Amino acid sequence: MVSRVIPVEAFDLVIFGGTGDLAGRKILPALFRRYCAGQLPEGSRILGAARADLDRAGYADFARAAIREHAPGRHCEDGSLEAFLKRLDYVAVDACGESGWAALAGRLAGGDRVRAFYFSVGPGLFGDLAQRLRRHGLAGADSRIVVEKPFGHDLESARALNATLAAQFDEGQIYRIDHYLGKETVQNLMAVRFGNMLFEPLWNSQYVDHIQITVAETVGVGGRGEYYDRAGAMRDMMQNHLMQLLCLIAMEPPAKFEPDEVRDEKVKVIKALDPVAPHHIVRGQYEAREGDAEAHPSYREAVDDPRSTTESYVALKAHVSNWRWAGTPFYLRTGKRLVARSSVINVVFKDAPHSIFGAEAGRHANVLSIRLQPNEGITLRVTIKEPGPGGMRLVDVPLDMSFAEALGPEGEDPPDAYERLIMDGIRGNQTLFMRGDEVEAAWAWTDPIIAGWQARGEAPKPYDSGSTGPRDADLLMERDGRKWRGINP
Ligand code: BG6
Repeated sequence: MVSRVIPVEAFDLVIFGGTGDLAGRKILPALFRRYCAGQLPEGSRILGAARADLDRAGYADFARAAIREHAPGRHCEDGSLEAFLKRLDYVAVDACGESGWAALAGRLAGGDRVRAFYFSVGPGLFGDLAQRLRRHGLAGADSRIVVEKPFGHDLESARALNATLAAQFDEGQIYRIDHYLGKETVQNLMAVRFGNMLFEPLWNSQYVDHIQITVAETVGVGGRGEYYDRAGAMRDMMQNHLMQLLCLIAMEPPAKFEPDEVRDEKVKVIKALDPVAPHHIVRGQYEAREGDAEAHPSYREAVDDPRSTTESYVALKAHVSNWRWAGTPFYLRTGKRLVARSSVINVVFKDAPHSIFGAEAGRHANVLSIRLQPNEGITLRVTIKEPGPGGMRLVDVPLDMSFAEALGPEGEDPPDAYERLIMDGIRGNQTLFMRGDEVEAAWAWTDPIIAGWQARGEAPKPYDSGSTGPRDADLLMERDGRKWRGINP
C-alpha cells in the first residue's frame, strides 16, 4: 500500500489551550506525524496560545517532551523532531481579557492563507475566543475554528453554544470534532457498506435480526473525575461516539461522499430514533478490582464522591423507526474498566427461514463483525458442515480478515484520528465533522433518557472491574432471546 499524501498550501494553526492535556497528548503529536509525512509545507505557522508565560523555546520544550512521550519512534531521534519544533511559536493570550491579542494578530499578519483556530479549551471559553478573533480581524473568510467535545451538556447548552459560535462564524467555518469519525476503521464502515454490492441488499430489517454496538474500555476515569462525574457514560460516549457509529451503520446511502450529503443522512437517522423505554436502559458503576483496590479503585473513590450516582457504563436498546429498520433493534453498550478494550459492531443476521437439516442441526445465524479497535478488521461467520461422518452437523466458522494482514507488510499504520481531522480541517473538508443540527438532534434524543432516570431516582448497578458489565445488561438481551457477543480484543 502506497500512502498518498494530499498536498496542502501553507497554513496557520493556532492552538488555544496550547499547553493543555489534549495539545500534548494528541494535537502536537498529530502535527508532528503529518510533518514527518511531508504534509506541513514550508511557511506554515503553528502557534501555541495559552495563559502561561512562555517564550518560543519554553513551548518547544513542552512540545518536545509531549511528542517524545506520545509519538515515540525513529523520527524523534533523526533530527525531524528538532526541525518540526522550529516551526512552532507561542503567544501568551488571555481568552477572557485583552492581553496578548494584539501580539497574536501581529504574528499572524501577512499572507493569504487558511487560518485554523483550534479551541482546545473548555466550552465556557468558546464565546470569548470567537468574539475576540472577530474583533482582532482574525475571523476572515479563510478562517475556521475547530472545537472539541463536550459540545454542550444537554440540548439547551448545545443550542446556546451553537448560537454563540454562529454569531461570529458561518456553519461552514465551524469544525466540531468527534474523534471517532477520524478513526480509519470508522470510515471503513462507509467503504464496506457503500463500496460492496454484497451487503447492501441484506442491510435492512428483512434480513438483519439485530445490531450490537460495543465500545468497551479497560481504563477507568483516571484523573478526569471532575469532568466525568458531571457527564457519565451517556454524555461522554453514547451521545456522540456510539451515536456516530449507529448513524454510519444505519444511514441511507448518500448520493455523494460530500459533507452535507453524508451529514444529512446521519441527521435523518438520529431523528428517526424512538424515545428509549426505561426498561431498555441499564446503567452501571464499576467497583474496585478485587485484591488490587489500590491500583484499581472503585468509581466512587476515583471521583472522590462516595455517593456518586453517575454511570460509568450504559447499555440500551434503540429503535430506528424508518422503512429500512422498523423491527430491528440496535443494542448499544459502553463502559469503563471492562474486561478488554474493544470497539466492535456486530450485525447479526436472521436465521435461515427453514432448516432442511432438521432440528438437531441447531440454529445458525450469519454475523458480520466489524472490529474498529484494536485488531481492526472484519469477520463474517458462515455456517458449514462439521467435517467427518455421522450426518449433517452444522458449525459456524469465521471468514476472518485483519486489515493489517490483508494490506500486506508494506501497509503502514493508518494516521491517528487527530492527524486526519486536523488536515481535513485545513483542507476545508467537513465530512467527518459534526454539523450543528446533528449535535442538537443527538442531545434531543439523549436528554429525555437522562431526565427519565433522574426523575426515577435510579442508582447505577455495581459491576466488577474487569468484567463485561452489570448482569442487568445481559438480561436486557436475554429477555429478547438474544445474547451479547463476547468483548474480545
Ligand atoms: C473520549 C472520552 O471522547 O473518548 C473518553 O471522553 C474515552 O472517556 C475516549 O476514554 C475513548 O477514545 P478511544 O479513541 O480511546 O476509543
